[in-house]
Amino acid sequence: MPMQSGGGFVFQHEKEYPGNLTPFVLVTCIVAAMGGLIFGYDIGISGGVTSMPSFLKDFFPSVYKKEELNTSTNQYCKFDSQIVTLFTSTLYIAALLASLVASTVTRKLGRRLSMLVGGFLFCSGAIINALAQNVAMLIIGRALLGFGVGFANQSVPLYLAEMAPYKYRGALNIIFQLSITIGILVANVLNYFFAMIDNWGWRLSLGGATIPAIIIIIGSLVLPDTPNSLIERGMHDKAISNLRKIRGIEQVDKEFNDLVEASEASKKVNHPWRNLLQRRYRSHLTMAIAIPFFQQFTGINVIMFYAPILFKTIGFQNNASLMSSVITGAFNVLATLVSIYGVDKWGRRILFIEGGIQMFVCQVVVAILIGLKFRVSGNLSSQVHQWYAIVLVLFICTYVCAFAWSWGPLGWLVPSEIFPLEIRSAAQSINVSVNMFFTFVVAQVFLTMLCHLKFGLFLFFAFFLFLMSVFIYFFLPETKGMPIEEMSIVWKNHWFWGRFITHNDDDLKMAKMGQPPKRFH
Ligand code: BGC
Repeated sequence: MPMQSGGGFVFQHEKEYPGNLTPFVLVTCIVAAMGGLIFGYDIGISGGVTSMPSFLKDFFPSVYKKEELNTSTNQYCKFDSQIVTLFTSTLYIAALLASLVASTVTRKLGRRLSMLVGGFLFCSGAIINALAQNVAMLIIGRALLGFGVGFANQSVPLYLAEMAPYKYRGALNIIFQLSITIGILVANVLNYFFAMIDNWGWRLSLGGATIPAIIIIIGSLVLPDTPNSLIERGMHDKAISNLRKIRGIEQVDKEFNDLVEASEASKKVNHPWRNLLQRRYRSHLTMAIAIPFFQQFTGINVIMFYAPILFKTIGFQNNASLMSSVITGAFNVLATLVSIYGVDKWGRRILFIEGGIQMFVCQVVVAILIGLKFRVSGNLSSQVHQWYAIVLVLFICTYVCAFAWSWGPLGWLVPSEIFPLEIRSAAQSINVSVNMFFTFVVAQVFLTMLCHLKFGLFLFFAFFLFLMSVFIYFFLPETKGMPIEEMSIVWKNHWFWGRFITHNDDDLKMAKMGQPPKRFH
């Protein structure tokens, strides 16, 4: 509920609401995990499928010829095909568009309906893809999957945050990322096995997405809508009975009243988009754009989408390259656990900076290793020995680990905790859409860039890794252990961002929210 505190206008925090971690809440977590799984499954499945010869033969015969029959002498360019990348990247443009629409559906019709819509769109995309007879069906299927991901990514984290007892909110945020990585790994493993089925194994890979989709559909049908969303839509009676069910107790009046008050206060904020442009929110706007931008320019999705293709490019056999992406996928999951453990202990900045340096070193080493073997011409200078390939995979795994405990989870966690309520929805939409947009860009241009920049491509990402580490060092304040509602203090005390916030801002804001001006401490 709104109240005054030392840092300015804040929302009350650390209230002891009674209630248990009920089975209801646990089911909620599982549904949330499914939201991450469908996203991760998509990230992980496309690379393996586009490296399966039968898939290429059916849909992209020219690439198949170049690749299988080895008609291209330049290794860097043998997979360069805009239409192959379109298969991967359509999903992210569709997700970007859907997340913009989904924010209204989620607000006006509830989180549950958004999830349901997401589940259906996703399921139909998976079926169309599994039955695909031509490239058009493939692309339409991917677009539907993207719409599904857009709806799910918009509604599931919100649903989670509102259902979870407040004490578990932070951990749940990274569990969402963990489930993304599990989705990627499951997809990598399935690709490995399905690739053994000649001719139609890829159909199983693509069709496998129906399973998490069905789970999310059933989940959204059986779960209650969140009390917050019911209150927002004027259904107070239903909200209070749901709250009792969720918390497993009768005495929920305190929490209920606070939810009502918070909802009224947030209704007074009419122009979140316009607010975001105010000078005092310059730091927030910068972070909402810079963090997802930099997350994608670590180059992580080059590995996530194209690892099997990359491994094939450097001379691995089909099976070996699929197995290598299973290995990188497993490291991705395990290293995410490190961030769950360390994020509140060591802080965000340390993880960001350590991860950035580790990734920088790995990208430079990968560039050197690939450059030495393939030179600028893209022709093998000598046979790739097994040990050489193993060293390369090891460095790629080290790189993935660094991402998984730094920019991976923090790229979602930090934006979710730094925005004050009055700009939260708008800033979050910007964060999600910038992320999807640059995911699209990287997916779409990677193979072309590899063809032109050759091993220099890895130096290109190394350059961005350097830039983002410097950016974090100078511009991101530590947010560890800081209640979301007190976050304004960290910006006010920051050497750079502090100058954008004047003392008057607080009084102005208070007046706008119908509160008396306060003394500034
Ligand atoms: C990123 C994805 C990425 C995944 C890898 C997520 O945080 O947003 O683009 O593929 O991590 O684990």
